[in-house]
Formats: sequence, structure tokens, C-alpha cells
Amino acid sequence: FGKAILFNEHFVVYGIPSIVSAIGNYTVAKVEPYEKSGFNLEDKRLATPKYKADKLSQQKESFELMFKKMGLDLSTNGVKITLEGNLVAASGIGASAASCVAVARALSDSYELDLSDEQINEIAYEGEKGYHGTPSGVDNTASTYGGLIWFQKGEKNVIDRISLLNPVEIVIGNTGKVTDTKAAVDGVKQRKEKNLKKYQEIFDRAENIAYLAKRAIQDRAYTNLGKLMNENHKLLQQIEVSSRELDFLVSIARDAGALGAKLTGGGLGGNMLALTPGKELQNKVATAIEKEGFQTVKTVIGASRENVE
Ligand code: MEV
Repeated sequence: FGKAILFNEHFVVYGIPSIVSAIGNYTVAKVEPYEKSGFNLEDKRLATPKYKADKLSQQKESFELMFKKMGLDLSTNGVKITLEGNLVAASGIGASAASCVAVARALSDSYELDLSDEQINEIAYEGEKGYHGTPSGVDNTASTYGGLIWFQKGEKNVIDRISLLNPVEIVIGNTGKVTDTKAAVDGVKQRKEKNLKKYQEIFDRAENIAYLAKRAIQDRAYTNLGKLMNENHKLLQQIEVSSRELDFLVSIARDAGALGAKLTGGGLGGNMLALTPGKELQNKVATAIEKEGFQTVKTVIGASRENVE
């Protein structure tokens, strides 16, 4: 699955709880024998222009890290990997995590390793290091397990399922800008070190918001949930990971009636997310964003293998 972080991207890197959802769009990987050593990649995913070229060297590193973690020796007999599926390869919606999970699962099947979800998640985490350097693990976790998840990084990560009776409609808006998550994460680290007190206050509020948001989801209090998303966006602006395009799409979505809107993922470009319960509101918000020339994905939060196929 692709993913959308509902609350606390970036803060999650420092152990603040986050809420993440798998979305209904997914990546599929196929693995076949390859006559040469190493791997041959055919990437058939739809993608934001420049995404594939920009990410190619990170993608190669990511595959190598996963092969190593799985103990696969491809020096004599290699593999051909094909990536496809309906998840657009873009920044912020978990394209890298979804491809890591899909490749790990396909390799597990093809080498008859019979790996558990937990093992797949660990391998995908290793693969994510190729893209992020020091990922929190939130993306690969959502991608592996699906559904709506409370994720907190720690000595042992906390991964709790948040139950949602019915999936809720969202709109994801793509700024069309490919971004480097590692650079975004490094930027926060540097600014945090320089402004400890200010950042501590922002981080405290982010933590507080996570708990309030969990409660709002459980109570199905979507108006309140939307307000908390707006507030989360403000905190993300304060740590300087938003961008002009993201703020623009966020304001279009709110003006069109979204209950809340925020950037999602690494920021600095990539994607934003609007909470739009009900198909009618979802269409209205998506149309408003598309009218300005941006692409959208209409999907749901709370997607799991049972309700997506
Ligand atoms: C990227 O999707 C999410 C970040 O919080 C990085 C991470 O958690 O590894 C920005």
C-alpha cells in the first residue's frame, strides 16, 4: 500500500507518536529469474515527472540493502524485478515504502522463504534506508500492515491498530515536485539543534495533538479531526517543511470545504492531504485542486487487504 501520514511526519523521527494510514492505492512487484548476475529493473509505475530518474540511485541502493538483509546472493543468478500497480510514484505517499514491501514479498515468494509480515516489515525498513538514511519506520509499517496505525518509534516500536468502522474519504493533492526526504529530515535536525527551546514547544504540541487526534478518530468526530490536521500543518510550517505549493493546495482544499488539510510525508513539495468524508465532498475538493492544474488521488484512509482488491 501507499500511505498517508495523518499526523506528525518529521516529529515521528524523534519518538513523537504519529498516525498513519495505508491508502487504497498499491504497488505490485513481480520477480523472475534473470540470466545475468545482479538485478534488472522494469519500473512500469505511473510517476510524477522526474521522480524515477531522481530516485534511481537511491532505489538501487535500497534493493541492494534488501538483498543483503535477506541473505540473497545474486552474483551468479540474478533477478528481474517489475514494478507496477495503481500507486503513482510521487513524493509523500509512500511510493518508496510500498515498492520495498512489494519487492520483499515478491522475493519471499519466489525464493520460497515464507517470511512473516514482521520480517517483511524489517526488510522493507532496511530498504527504506536507501531513500531516507535514518527512517523512522512509519512508512514501511503502514505499507506492510495496511489499515490505520498509531506508530511510535522507540527501542521497540509501538505499532497499534486504530479501528475505523468504515474507511473515510480523503483527497491527496500532488504539487508535482519531487523531493528528497533525507534532505528534509536533515534540515529539521539542523534547525532543531539551533532552536532547542522553540522546537521543544512545537514538539510538545505535536505530541498532544496525536493523542487528541486518536480520540477524535475513535469518536468519529471528523470536524474536530480536521481542525487538528490544520493545526498539525501549522506546526509543520513552523519547522519549515511546508512549501508555497503545499500551502496553496492546502488553502484550495479548505476553501472547497475540506474538514482539514495538511502536507503529508516529507514535505517541501510532494503531496498534501485533505479530509473529505463522503463522496460528494471528496469530488468537490478534488475538482477544486484539479482546476488549478494539479493531480489528485481520491482514496480512503483505513484501507486494508480485506477492503482493497
Ligand atoms: C516521510 O514519509 C516521513 C518522515 O517523517 C520521515 C520518516 O518518518 O522516516 C518525514
